[in-house]
Amino acid sequence: MNFGLIFTFFVLISSSNSAWLDRRSDSYECTYVSSDIFKPLEPLSPTDSPVTRCYNLELVLKDLAPDGFTRPVWTANGQYPGPILQANHGDRMIVNVFNKFGDPATIHWHGMFQKGTNFYDGPEGITQCAIPNNVTFTYNFTIEQDGTYWYHSHHLGQMIDGLKGPLIIYNPKDSYLGKYDFEYVMTLSDWYHDPTSILLPKFSSDSYKGFAPVPDSGEISGLGQYDCKAAPKNSKCNPNKKIATYIVKKGKKYRFRIINTSALVHYILSIDNHPLTIIEVDGTLVKPVTLNTIPINIAQRYSVILDANQEIDNYQIRAHITECTPIDNNTLNFDSALNYDVTGILKYDGAKDKPPTSNPYPLNTSEECRDVNPNLLKPYFEPKVPQNVISTFKTLVNFGAAASGRAIALINNSSFVPNNNYPTNQKIVDGIKPNQLSNNDNPLTYECDSGDCDDAAVEIFIINNTTDSHPFHVHGHDFFVLYNGENNSDIKSPHKSEFNFKDPVIRDVVTVLPNSTTVIRYSASNPGVWLFHCHIQWHLSMGMAAQLIESPSIFKNTTIPSDVTALCAKDRG
Ligand code: C2O
Ligand code: CU
Repeated sequence: MNFGLIFTFFVLISSSNSAWLDRRSDSYECTYVSSDIFKPLEPLSPTDSPVTRCYNLELVLKDLAPDGFTRPVWTANGQYPGPILQANHGDRMIVNVFNKFGDPATIHWHGMFQKGTNFYDGPEGITQCAIPNNVTFTYNFTIEQDGTYWYHSHHLGQMIDGLKGPLIIYNPKDSYLGKYDFEYVMTLSDWYHDPTSILLPKFSSDSYKGFAPVPDSGEISGLGQYDCKAAPKNSKCNPNKKIATYIVKKGKKYRFRIINTSALVHYILSIDNHPLTIIEVDGTLVKPVTLNTIPINIAQRYSVILDANQEIDNYQIRAHITECTPIDNNTLNFDSALNYDVTGILKYDGAKDKPPTSNPYPLNTSEECRDVNPNLLKPYFEPKVPQNVISTFKTLVNFGAAASGRAIALINNSSFVPNNNYPTNQKIVDGIKPNQLSNNDNPLTYECDSGDCDDAAVEIFIINNTTDSHPFHVHGHDFFVLYNGENNSDIKSPHKSEFNFKDPVIRDVVTVLPNSTTVIRYSASNPGVWLFHCHIQWHLSMGMAAQLIESPSIFKNTTIPSDVTALCAKDRG
């Protein structure tokens, strides 16, 4: 197929891409990337100086059956999970998104700092309007970090419907190079048989009184199994769907990059007979720590090294759905056929084709709903915790009811509602003052306008006044987890003496336990508007989010590119 021709075709019909036509004078080629997640990942070779990587993602609906049950899937280049995107530290990344969904769409680059390019961060109503159907939009940012990341839609529930994939950034000087022979990517996810265009309106209707929607199955790297006897009549369902299979050679070591891309589910991952050595947490290297079972919450990532030193055989990979978030029948799509034990196979090269008979490691129930014990995760390089605290926020997380009776989530008594036609970053650039934003914008504003902003610290006490646990994420930053409280008697004022300032874990998603407080700190060195939210997509849709308005007096001088502003209806005319 002539991709070049197709590319030109999209250029001609697209209405809002004049800006990136100029950029084509750079010498790089744009590729319609596709990938096979079950093949060892070919790391990019280092280059003398940073280069531009250009990827084309065509967003198309496709009937797929990840767990055997056929449904329309919101794919990138026809793939689910989306293709693996790769770059080296320092590279510029250009992603041409051709939206053919028939729906608006956005893509968020989870974990990317987007320094100077807040407007390419992706969340609808915060940094951009959605890309309308039949429009091409180009994301363009420089990568000043490395490790395991991912991308996903940030338009309504679209990421639950399939638009998500791995984003792997190499550091040619990675301290663990040479400690493993090959690498693989593995995604864990939950999966729903109804599209969110059905689930979300029901879930957010005024009369609905139940819990969040629950998955029909779980998947490893986009493959799961479903008991088709439970499927509605007339549906297309294959009960013998093959499961995720990773092939290893005896005597070799493998780096597995594990990403939990779920909407609701916290997993505990293990591979029979194979302890896993964690070396990276959410893009930051840590000193090696070896565990048999790894709890991983939504949007978190771990790189682990697996030593294929067992007998040539098949071993079970197990992703256990923990009962963190109530999965009971008081919901709109309860599925009793949900299998809590999702499996895959670690197959040694040369092993017979037969199901594994290996034994699981005992499940550690104290890991249910939690992060890997933060005391075990020590940054590889001594962390520089910023000391000059310029702002401390106490964010009280609650569930409640709107005047209409609808169940909502609240942060400091206000439920977040994005303004999808007028993104907050545009408002700031237009001269609207943070204190003029509405209550529903949930702004948390702070300013580092002089001095060493790397040392200017923002501290957030995430005070969870609910009986659920919540994986909280900050856009545009990673953060130091100073304190991870459990059921404090006084959850509002944890003791500073217990904070870890010496070697706290650095990550971009942290689990806040039920009725507990977690304290994070990060550098205010990235002016922009950054979303801060629970990564349970159903909670986000209920308004469990706030916006960090970072150094508005600097950010207001930003020029938002015309192709970004052109996405908003008021400018489209
Ligand atoms: Cu994974 Cu708002 O992001
Ligand atoms: Cu939540």
